[in-house]
Amino acid sequence: MTDDLATLAAATARELAEARDLRTLEEVRVAVLGKSGRLTALLKALGGLPPEARRARGAAVNALKEQLTAAIEARRAALEEAALAARLGAERVDVTLPARPSALGLIHPISRTIEEIAAIFGAMGFALAEGPDIESDWHNFGALNIPAHHPARADHDTFYLPASAPGQPPRVLRTHTSPVQVRTMLAAPPPIRVIAMGRTYRADHDATHSPMFHQCEGLALDRALTLGHLKGCLIDFLRAYFALPTLPVRFRASYFPFTEPSMEVDIGWDRRSGEIGQGGDWLEILGSGMVHPKVLANAGIDPREWQGFAFGMGIERITMLKHGINDLRPFFESDPRWLRHYGFSPLAPALLHERV
Ligand code: DAH
Repeated sequence: MTDDLATLAAATARELAEARDLRTLEEVRVAVLGKSGRLTALLKALGGLPPEARRARGAAVNALKEQLTAAIEARRAALEEAALAARLGAERVDVTLPARPSALGLIHPISRTIEEIAAIFGAMGFALAEGPDIESDWHNFGALNIPAHHPARADHDTFYLPASAPGQPPRVLRTHTSPVQVRTMLAAPPPIRVIAMGRTYRADHDATHSPMFHQCEGLALDRALTLGHLKGCLIDFLRAYFALPTLPVRFRASYFPFTEPSMEVDIGWDRRSGEIGQGGDWLEILGSGMVHPKVLANAGIDPREWQGFAFGMGIERITMLKHGINDLRPFFESDPRWLRHYGFSPLAPALLHERV
C-alpha cells in the first residue's frame, strides 16, 4: 500500500473509532466514500494514469475501498447495538410495582346496572341469553307477531340494512331485545328462564333518546306460569334494584303484539322532587305480559302445553332513575369527568339486595 493509501486508512480508522453516534458515523462515511469523498477522489484520479500504473494502483485503491466499507458497516452495527441496549435499559418496566389505586378505571353506570340485573335475576334462577345486534326482520318483528305493515313497526324507527344476498330477507339493527326470546325458544325446549341484555337501536336522538341504547329482556316458560308469577317476579326485582323494600308497584293494562294480556309496570315516585318510592305519582318503567300463543307457535312451541311471561325494559332509564342522572347523552360521550363522577369502583362488585 502506498503512503497516501495507508494515511487514508489510518485516518479513517481513527475517525471511525471516535464516532460515538450514528450521525457522526454517517459524516465519516460521506467524507470518505461520498460523491466528493477522499477515496472517491482517488478512484477518479485513476483515469489520468497510464494503463500499466492504473492497473496496480486501481487494485490497491479498490481493495482499500472494500476495507473501509467493511469497517464503516462494522462500526454502524456496533453503534446500533449500543443504542438499542441504552434504550432497553432506560425503558425498563418494573412489573413487581404494586398497582396504584388512583390510576384505576371505573365501571360505567350501564355496565353496573347490567351486573346488578344479572345478580338479582340470577338469584331467581334466570340464566343469561344473547342474540346478535344485526337481526333478521323475522326475528325482530315477524316471529313476535308484528307482520309487515303492522302499526307497531312505525313506533320503532328501525334502521334497515341491505339483505345479505339478493333474494334474502331484509335485516335490521335490532330495535329491542325481544328477538332473543325467539332465538332462545328455537334453541332448546322449555322450561325456559332467561334474561337477555344488550344493545338496541332506533333512529331517534335527543336528551332522553339515543340511536343506540340498552334493553333487558326476560322470558319464563313452563307448564303453569301465570300472571301471578310475572307480578311477583317483577315486584321483587324492582324492590331489589331500587333498594326500596316497600316500593309501590302498579300493573296497568296495555298492548304489545307479542303478549296477551299485556301490562305496563309503573313505580311510585314524587314528580316534584323526583324521589322514588315517595309521593303519589306513577312512573312507567317497563313492558310485560303473558307470551302470546302465536309467538310460541312461531318458535315451534305448543301453546297448549307451555305458557309463561315476558318483559322488557330500558337499561339507561332505570340507571338514570336510580342515580339521579337526567341527561342520557353523556352516557356515550366517554368524558372522563362524567365517568369519574358517575362511575363505580371495580373493587366493589354489584351486590344482591344492596340495602334491602
Ligand atoms: N320490546 C318492547 C319494546 O321495546 C318491550 C317489551 C314489552 C318487551 C313487553 C317484552 C314485553 O318482552 O312482554 O318496547
